Amino acid sequence: MVDNIQIVDALKAVLTDLTVEQISEKLEAPKSSDLGDVAFPTFTLAKIMHKAPQQIAADIVATIDQSGFEKVVATGPYINFFLDKEATSNKVLKTVFDLESAYGDNLDGQGTKITIDMSSPNIAKPMSMGHLRSTVIGNALANITAKNGYEPVKINHLGDWGTQFGKLIYAYKTWGSEQEVKSDPIATLLKYYVEFHEKAKEDESLNDEGRAWFKKLEDGDREAHELWQWFRAESLKEFSEIYDRLDIDFDSFNGEAFYNDKMEKVIDILEEKNLLVASQGAQIVDLSDINQNLTPAMIKRSDGATLYMTRDLAAAIYRKEKYNFAKSLYVVGGEQREHFVQMKAVLSLMGFEWANDIEHIAFGLITFNGKKMSTRKGDVVLLKDVLDDAHELALKQIQEKNPSLDNKDLVAEQVGAGAVVFHDLMNDRTNNFDFNLEEVVRFEGDTGPYVQYTNARAKSILRKSSIQLTSEQLNLSDAQTWDIITILNNFPSTIQRAWQQREASIIAKYSLNLSRAFNKYYANSKILVEDNQLNARLVLVKSVSIVLTECLRLLGVKAPEEM
Ligand code: ARG
Repeated sequence: MVDNIQIVDALKAVLTDLTVEQISEKLEAPKSSDLGDVAFPTFTLAKIMHKAPQQIAADIVATIDQSGFEKVVATGPYINFFLDKEATSNKVLKTVFDLESAYGDNLDGQGTKITIDMSSPNIAKPMSMGHLRSTVIGNALANITAKNGYEPVKINHLGDWGTQFGKLIYAYKTWGSEQEVKSDPIATLLKYYVEFHEKAKEDESLNDEGRAWFKKLEDGDREAHELWQWFRAESLKEFSEIYDRLDIDFDSFNGEAFYNDKMEKVIDILEEKNLLVASQGAQIVDLSDINQNLTPAMIKRSDGATLYMTRDLAAAIYRKEKYNFAKSLYVVGGEQREHFVQMKAVLSLMGFEWANDIEHIAFGLITFNGKKMSTRKGDVVLLKDVLDDAHELALKQIQEKNPSLDNKDLVAEQVGAGAVVFHDLMNDRTNNFDFNLEEVVRFEGDTGPYVQYTNARAKSILRKSSIQLTSEQLNLSDAQTWDIITILNNFPSTIQRAWQQREASIIAKYSLNLSRAFNKYYANSKILVEDNQLNARLVLVKSVSIVLTECLRLLGVKAPEEM
């Protein structure tokens, strides 16, 4: 889809039966640029209009208002629009120059709130690459919602409650040591957890012990509660190091435990609506009426303990009451798809119409050099190590390319972390992908550092010139700059599409496109020559840098001035 208001308006005037949306979704980029800037295919109109597509195209071109275009021509079944290059260049460059980082702002959201459940790692376990995905996708979506006029609320639904804490408390009390935990909290707690599972394989009764300790915790037992609090605080400290490093913050850290006193209400409504059914001692909600293939939602276990689902139901209701969200997003891996389908189904049965505003923003699996990760077996790739390695690789390249750079270490951190984040975001989020650090941190190719480098290059050109830039006479019309101008022109529609599709990758791919077009221009033309278009060319360079910086900001990637 290519958006261009001018084209949609011209078409709308002759195709009165179609809506603006119907017209704009048909617009596409022509197969090659000598066919024009935007194409409108007429195939789908043939049925309605009872005419051959070629004829429709010819008829429309004969009647359409061509003013403001270089030309409008029919090529077989397509109507091809050639934009007036000078007018477009003037308009686009002036808009970016005047608006700067506000270019592309969309006011549609009107300040309504979008809650974003994101990151949500589990206490006493290391943050995995999967949680990293949730963190960076959630953060980018939050920035994108804000750019579209909404107010994002970033919620870290910490996994700080559940039977695993019973297991952990049992393990700690039976073979753990305070000293050991203090020296390296998460790694030690993970070790106990892994050991627990090994031992439980030989001796089934351990699971009962774990369950009993969790029951104690839920019933408010003091010793259990104190241990839990300690594990939680230590874990949060380590998570915060990573959040600080990625410069990502949250509006709420209300994790699962926060809903302990809010679950009675859920149970009450379920009972009132006669939705709870006893099944082998447990309490469930049957969902087969909604969808035959849906397994029932477990609300209470046979020992009365509540579950992940129960806490999520309480959280969903709490969020609606507290934030009155327009949409409630859950950025969670695709393997939890059924959980969210069930959750929405239960909320619908409870009579909450807003259940339809809940969206599971699923994402694919990350593998690391071909290996899958699992915390249960203890073979995890630690995020901290990934960021450290990325930093090293970035530093090496900076030392080669720009040995005299002042703040190498800071820039290496921005490039290393940025590379990891960008790579995560440039793939369609539901794709599975493998992570190879060497490729990710390269300064060339489809990488974050490439976009950062392009932006730094644009900035350095601007530093070399001392002329005062103005927004007058920005009419560039050569083929080299035209590519860049059309991409800049598409930025506002890209912002909207990224939100409509909940896809940060649309912005990452856009930034790569813009970088490629700019580097091609940079390689083939002299920008800094003193002629009457110098100002226009520098405003173009500045516009590229404004838009690239904004793309990187939206993605949660830093934009170093020099690298
Ligand atoms: N802590 C969970 C996990 O690591 C993710 C929580 C996602 N959010 C939610 N509201 N269920 O699997």
